[in-house]
Amino acid sequence: MICYLTGLDLKNIIKFGVKPKQPIILTKLLITKVKNHRNSLTGHIVLSVIFSFIFALSTFAQSGDTKNGKKLFNTNCAACHKLEQRLIGPPLKGVASKRDQKWLQDWIRNSAALIESGDADAKAIFEEYSSIPMTPFPNLSDQDIADIMAYTDADPALFEKKKVEEVAIVVADPIDYTTEVLIAVIVIALFFTIILFRLKSTLLHLYKREQGSYFSELVAYISFIVKNNTLAILFVFLISMLGIYAFWEWGLGVGVDKGYQPIQPIAFSHKVHSGDQEIDCQYCHSSARTSKTSGIPSANVCMNCHMLIQEGENTGKEEIAKIYDAIGFDPSTNSYIENYEQKPIKWVRIHNLPDFVYYNHSQHVTVGGLECQDCHGPVEEMEEVYQYSPLTMSWCIDCHKTEEIKMAGNAYYDKIHKQLAAKYGTQKLTVSMMGGLECGKCHY
Ligand code: HEC
Ligand code: HEC
Ligand code: HEC
Ligand code: HEC
Ligand code: HEC
Ligand code: HEC
Repeated sequence: MICYLTGLDLKNIIKFGVKPKQPIILTKLLITKVKNHRNSLTGHIVLSVIFSFIFALSTFAQSGDTKNGKKLFNTNCAACHKLEQRLIGPPLKGVASKRDQKWLQDWIRNSAALIESGDADAKAIFEEYSSIPMTPFPNLSDQDIADIMAYTDADPALFEKKKVEEVAIVVADPIDYTTEVLIAVIVIALFFTIILFRLKSTLLHLYKREQGSYFSELVAYISFIVKNNTLAILFVFLISMLGIYAFWEWGLGVGVDKGYQPIQPIAFSHKVHSGDQEIDCQYCHSSARTSKTSGIPSANVCMNCHMLIQEGENTGKEEIAKIYDAIGFDPSTNSYIENYEQKPIKWVRIHNLPDFVYYNHSQHVTVGGLECQDCHGPVEEMEEVYQYSPLTMSWCIDCHKTEEIKMAGNAYYDKIHKQLAAKYGTQKLTVSMMGGLECGKCHY
């Protein structure tokens, strides 16, 4: 009511007052900092031991960059290969020591040509895998292939993903007393109503005895309440409490869709794909690195794998069949149906900022170096995606105030860093110091 009278936006006051995300982001930051620090020394030792080991083992890995190899592997090969298990193709761990360098280059660039040339190994592996042809990769350079092979030989422990902190999830939900408060208010209100009714009947009784007129009884009753100051004040107080409470509830709820989890047309599970199968987020959301939006993959992307994987462990053929229905594929003949009228899969959008806000993925993922999980939570554990963060203005701002910009190795920042470090007298710069709180950066 005060806010209404003074023209303040209650929703924002409450949002800024409660600041539910700030401690979490801080905790997260701290944890990652400590972790990075702790890991860096042991990490370096492990790395150098493994590198020298690989060096001694094979001439291949000698020049291979495992990090780049991992990236190339995830984008090009992970659809069909895993390191330790058979997927569509054979497991690739140790293949660099099984085959020679030239053979691998020929195979990866064009396996069909190698098979045709009569190479016995090529023929054997092709037949072993029921003559499924491997996609040719003529664009991969010798270095690229060496990098991929270095990755397939490296110790997988090096690449374990950072786990999103459980602590963060626990703290993320502010305790909700809504129902308790509501019940208490109702009980108090009931209590007063009962007292009033008791009063009324007693008064009625008295008046009936004296005068017997209903009209004068009513007048007397009202004048009693009005004259009795404490009772009147209590009454007004109660009603305004209820009013404020309702207003607060309404204000908090408007536009905040945290936890929003609609039912999707296909029971697509991020847990199966990103968790169990370890498919890289950007294999499907490929535009996150380079553009404003991350995008949802088309059915063609699904078909890269589901042309061959026609059955799931949990849902059998039912859900995967919906992809075929959308794109026009007949699994019984393993071919696309001609002249099929394709139906797009109607995924329900979960995250949605209002039109007047500008948000850019590549700015955060590529320039800012953030992980998807920093904002979207542990997606790789979600059977169905839900909105993990509130997506409110205070959420954006809290992070911009606390998140330190990763400037190392970025020439663009060198000059600005020096200037700002001098200006603020600190080496640690947050997004806010670079103007990340200016209205125009986020609002059109
Ligand atoms: C469309 C699925 C598919 C993709 C994508 C794919 N492969 Fe293959 N790969 C296969 C299959 C299937 C085989 C087994 C041979 C066959 O049937 O042709 C195979 C065999 C191989 C072999 C031979 C293994 C052995 O034991 O001799 C190597 C090496 C290989 N792939 C590397 C790669 C690399 C590196 C990439 C990524 C640049 C890649 N593959 C991408 C399907 C694929
Ligand atoms: C195999 C493809 C695939 C992979 C890999 C994948 N996703 Fe998705 N993602 C989808 C599809 C399809 C949807 C739309 C259906 C849904 O919401 O579940 C989606 C939806 C989402 C959404 C919700 C989009 C919205 O509507 O607002 C987020 C956020 C998301 N993915 C993040 C991730 C992250 C983070 C990873 C990596 C841990 C990842 N995805 C890996 C295919 C994929
Ligand atoms: C890179 C390969 C790959 C891509 C791309 C991919 N999937 Fe999958 N999908 C898999 C694998 C592997 C499985 C696990 C099969 C199993 O359960 O053994 C799977 C399983 C499934 C299942 C069944 C889950 C279960 O456990 O029953 C569904 C449904 C599914 N995928 C839908 C999709 C959709 C929709 C897309 C496109 C947005 C997609 N997939 C893209 C590899 C892929
Ligand atoms: C700084 C926080 C942040 C990070 C980091 C982030 N996202 Fe998002 N993401 C958002 C916001 C905010 C939206 C809503 C955008 C809108 O409505 O315009 C969104 C929307 C999406 C969507 C829905 C479609 C779209 O593009 O609007 C997908 C899919 C998605 N994100 C995937 C990813 C993936 C994959 C990554 C990691 C490569 C990632 N996000 C990293 C904040 C983030
Ligand atoms: C988890 C932390 C985090 C969250 C949440 C976040 N950002 Fe950012 N944001 C960053 C970082 C880090 C950068 C700096 C990237 C760079 O170096 O340019 C940045 C930069 C930006 C920039 C460019 C600022 C400039 O000075 O050029 C805009 C615009 C922006 N964010 C908008 C948003 C919006 C809108 C939201 C909420 C929907 C949001 N951000 C949420 C971390 C975050
Ligand atoms: C880091 C990004 C960012 C910056 C900087 C920012 N905003 Fe916002 N603003 C948002 C987002 C995101 C929303 C949408 C919140 C929602 O939908 O709940 C929003 C919503 C609003 C709204 C609508 C009211 C509401 O709470 O929903 C107003 C008014 C507003 N901003 C004004 C401003 C002003 C004035 C400034 C400069 C002092 C500013 N914003 C700076 C991201 C930003």
